[in-house]
Amino acid sequence: MPSSAPLLALRTATSLLVLRTSLRARAALGDPVARLLDTSPRWDRNREQERVRAGGRLGRSDLGMRVTASHAVCGQVLRDPAFGVLQPLPPPELPGPRGRLVNPVTDSFLTLNPPDHGRLRRLAAPWFTPRGLRARQESVRRVVDEHLDALAGRERFDLVEDFAARVPVRVIADLLGVPGGDHSAFGRWGSAIISALDGVRSVRQARALEVALAEFEAFLGELVEHRRREPGDDVVSVLAAEPGLSREDLLATTELLLVAGFETTVNLIGNAVLVLLERPEDRERLVAEEVWAEAVVEEVLRLDPPVRYTLRAPFEPVELAGSRLRPMTPVMLLLAGANRDPEVFAEPDRFLPGRERGREHLAFSSGIHYCLGAGLARMEAVAALRGLFGRFPDLRLAGRVRSRRSGTIRGPVSLPVSTSVGHTIELNKR
Ligand code: HEM
Repeated sequence: MPSSAPLLALRTATSLLVLRTSLRARAALGDPVARLLDTSPRWDRNREQERVRAGGRLGRSDLGMRVTASHAVCGQVLRDPAFGVLQPLPPPELPGPRGRLVNPVTDSFLTLNPPDHGRLRRLAAPWFTPRGLRARQESVRRVVDEHLDALAGRERFDLVEDFAARVPVRVIADLLGVPGGDHSAFGRWGSAIISALDGVRSVRQARALEVALAEFEAFLGELVEHRRREPGDDVVSVLAAEPGLSREDLLATTELLLVAGFETTVNLIGNAVLVLLERPEDRERLVAEEVWAEAVVEEVLRLDPPVRYTLRAPFEPVELAGSRLRPMTPVMLLLAGANRDPEVFAEPDRFLPGRERGREHLAFSSGIHYCLGAGLARMEAVAALRGLFGRFPDLRLAGRVRSRRSGTIRGPVSLPVSTSVGHTIELNKR
């Protein structure tokens, strides 16, 4: 009904404003969970994590959630079948003619519990086995080299926009069988979808998400049809031929792989470069020794993980860290906090590649939802860093670093660099 559209828009805008205001108010009152959920750059997330840790193994928030920065408690919850993933809040209802759109976060196996989770994950898993990844190693290096060739002769460029954001898109697009060419729309779609992980907070954001999902779905719908007619040796061709797989599951799985494939790895590369700009010895050594590059990537994942937290809830009443939890009580698992737990990592705030127990971090989560692309992300980051610093050994910061405004994902969105010694400036504090 045409007259209901403005009303619906007003109701949506009002409820989003109430949500935003109450979160900000609780954050201002000192609730660490509200501060960690708030996208404002006002809060130092590492400090809030330490406040949670100081409060005990399982804290409580006024928002009705429990929260932990303990490595042991995070690991226990992630591996315990008594806990399941929590569906994020669906985007708000907007007036308009569109039907239901597939959303790679809310509709994919990332947010499904058994048995549906395993049924869908198994279909995608064969591409991410160590053997499958080894077969792609050369092509990943080629993608890195091509992007570095395109930067040859440039004195300045943006490390994120011109390099870190481009390599993972190409790698995952090749794996999925997305034809080559301009992938710039992916970045737009991915940003809209990932920004909604923090909750949709304005009508404008909801609209941008809706447009992104509609365009993404139309693009992949065409690709699926194309691969049904002309199958190749890629993920989409195999999924499209899978009997009994619904259109929604097919699209959600493909969209998840694409978005998870590039929206996270770009931050890993960006975070790593930020650390390495201040560490010339590590830069030289990682170019000379692949194992050092692997150790550096692992330590960046621990100290500055791109995904900061995840959520779980018990299906039934459970005992956790000495507390009794009612069914469906949301538990916020601070993966970034677990990665600095002094019970596991000695001198947790120091960057020490190759440290003892260094691979026990939870940057890729744990349990049945352990990141399917962990091996690919590691391989891409190693290739990207070795290629980058091999080609530009004097890379320097050449402008202001802008960080992503997000509580969930951490990484720079802009990192201006210069390739010659002349342009050095002080690293900004992030
Ligand atoms: C540095 C890069 C990456 C980081 C930090 C990262 C992190 C994560 C985390 C924390 C989860 C689990 C979330 C939870 O437990 O609730 C996850 C799941 C997932 N990731 Fe990644 N990821 C990265 C790269 C990739 C890549 C390159 C792919 C490739 C396609 C990928 C595909 C997936 C998929 C499919 C899942 C869902 C697994 C499941 O639910 O069973 N990720 N990732």
